[in-house]
Amino acid sequence: MTAKILILPGDGIGPEIVAEAVKVLECLRQEYGLDVVLEQGLLGGCAVDALGAPYPEQTQRQARAADAILLGAVGGPKWEQIERPLRPERGLLAIRADLELFANLRPALLYPQLASASALKPEIVAGLDILIVRELNGDIYFGQPRGIRKLDNGEREGFNTMRYSSSEIERIARVAFEAARKRHRKLCSVDKANVLESSELWREVVERVGADYPDVTLSHMYVDNAAMQLVRAPKQFDVIVTGNLFGDILSDCAAMLTGSIGMLPSASLDRNGKGLYEPIHGSAPDIAGKGMANPLATILSVAMLLRYSLNRLDLAERVEAAVGQVLDQGLRTLDISAPGMTAVGTQAMGDAVVAALAG
Ligand code: IPM
Ligand code: MG
Repeated sequence: MTAKILILPGDGIGPEIVAEAVKVLECLRQEYGLDVVLEQGLLGGCAVDALGAPYPEQTQRQARAADAILLGAVGGPKWEQIERPLRPERGLLAIRADLELFANLRPALLYPQLASASALKPEIVAGLDILIVRELNGDIYFGQPRGIRKLDNGEREGFNTMRYSSSEIERIARVAFEAARKRHRKLCSVDKANVLESSELWREVVERVGADYPDVTLSHMYVDNAAMQLVRAPKQFDVIVTGNLFGDILSDCAAMLTGSIGMLPSASLDRNGKGLYEPIHGSAPDIAGKGMANPLATILSVAMLLRYSLNRLDLAERVEAAVGQVLDQGLRTLDISAPGMTAVGTQAMGDAVVAALAG
């Protein structure tokens, strides 16, 4: 059956990097018979400009009908001053909530060719391969009540609610245990159970679910320690499972271990494997339109899409191998540039991946 893929280029560098990822999909269609149709849509600031909302109804209809979604990035200075409900980031949070994309997989994989691009010593990061499983529909991101209120003394107070129900914890824990089973069978659950009740329940439920996975070694770590361990000795981790807020922070930290945030893809999945795929970097307005952005994280997001939503492991591996090949050829965008390597722009990098795939 033909799979429907919704393409949401978004804002900033989004359109440039997504264009390269679309070339890769087109190549897979022509050369490998991948059975997909692509449709374009609007999310984020571009949607606010064109249709007055960051996740307009039209996009919602397209997203619900799609089998998988490929997103560039949303946001930029142009929309920073507008009222909160219209901000581009709200569009991203809305599509995650609307499609119940609760399982966010963020692999932090160091390509051996890029070991020297990491801010950490090569021996600390060489061979790094971590998967962060971040819960994406709950926690302080969506908890009610929230707001800014006036106190009796006239002062204003901002407040948010950190919360997790046991079923929300259980479903993300299962995704993480299943993922660990396919890897090195080590799962570290990150929380703040020494202070927060929400984390106390998190730990209890993860522990209970763990009884169903005796083949996976489960450990627990407080989030402050986890942040430290990620930069001290990151190779101790295989799979990390954590809540929405801690996962947001730790995944940026883990990304930097690999040298460039421009290399890392992500998948946000619902219970049926339908997913939204996006690079974990943002819209980088400072370099937008200059043809300098690294399209590899978006191209690697296509690989995740093939793996998780279309069940085409074979093609996912081909795309990943093609990325490895262009790095072997010495091609580097600015974010991963190194002496002796060949500096290329966004399009040349995309073309090289397509050439490696077709070759
Ligand atoms: C991410 C981003 C988003 C988040 C923002 C843009 C809402 O930082 O995907 O990590 O906080 O989840
Ligand atoms: Mg983030």
